[in-house]
Amino acid sequence: MRQSLTDPYGRTFSYIRLSITDRCNFKCHYCLPNGYQCTPGQEKHLELEEIKRLINGLDDLGVTKIRITGGEPTLRPDFLKIAEYIASKPHIKTVALTTNGFRLKQRIQSYYDAGINHLNVSIDSLDPATFTAVTQMRGLEGIFEGLAMALELPFSHVKINTVLLRGINDQSLNEFTEWIKHRPISLRFIELMRAADNKEYFEAHHVHASNVKNQLLEQGWSIKPREKNAGPAVELTHPSYEGRIGFIAPYSKDFCSTCNRLRITSRGELRLCLFGNENHSLRPHLQKDEDKDQLIAKIHKLLNIKERSHHLQEGKYGITKHFASIGG
Ligand code: 5AD
Ligand code: SF4
Repeated sequence: MRQSLTDPYGRTFSYIRLSITDRCNFKCHYCLPNGYQCTPGQEKHLELEEIKRLINGLDDLGVTKIRITGGEPTLRPDFLKIAEYIASKPHIKTVALTTNGFRLKQRIQSYYDAGINHLNVSIDSLDPATFTAVTQMRGLEGIFEGLAMALELPFSHVKINTVLLRGINDQSLNEFTEWIKHRPISLRFIELMRAADNKEYFEAHHVHASNVKNQLLEQGWSIKPREKNAGPAVELTHPSYEGRIGFIAPYSKDFCSTCNRLRITSRGELRLCLFGNENHSLRPHLQKDEDKDQLIAKIHKLLNIKERSHHLQEGKYGITKHFASIGG
């Protein structure tokens, strides 16, 4: 029988963010300014067979949405196989991908064919030079071409993740809104988050999402009524714009009350909260198909210790070194 995952605060978790690698080929200044560094002796990422067992357990636990994330998930050679396996599960209706857009144009059709139905591409600037300054990569034009192709395919959601950065993109609101005027894209502004490795960058570039949200409200945008179990994003719409704008603002009050997601690292550790202090290894229960009941019991048990809220306001951002290690 299908179960459901709940915690002591009455929240239900039907959405899993699954990181399948912590490698990334971009070098975003707030995340991996010196590029991906391999840590000698570190455990390997989950193998395909382990991931399949994990997905089977999650399917039994009432999960309806899995986001494949990284690092950059598409760098894994078996990435499409993972997507296809998730899509083959009848209850997992949403197979989402978060990508930095690397080779998007060449690969978008294969993502769709594998069963991915929600696409999130990270773009912090619409200006090629600024994009390159943030990511230390070229190729914004190719990402735009890939996105245009994505809009022609029947993806149910195409979203852009934009990390708000003081002095870099926070003065470009009009360019972003013009861009989505005639494109059915959800633009998600994400407040820059503190991790262990980005102290100076955070201090120099953090902007409160509410500053940008208030500007939009003044320009006639309005807050969309929240749907049930919608998660912590706040969404704005405007009658003259085809696109929408969402905000992920973890430093705002009550952010955690609508939490509907859990994270699993590429090494098979459950992270109860993005800003939490512990990873809980599920890997011992991923070695044999027969261990599925143990896996399920372990996840239920861990949910009992999920905390009501993060402690960001007290300056405690948890054990995340950088977001490539957990997929944001
Ligand atoms: N703060 C906010 N967002 C971040 N991301 C990576 N690091 C951070 C951070 N420190 C974003 C990426 C991508 C998403 C997966 O997480 O830009 O859009
Ligand atoms: Fe890579 Fe994303 Fe980190 Fe940029 S933010 S370096 S694209 S993992």
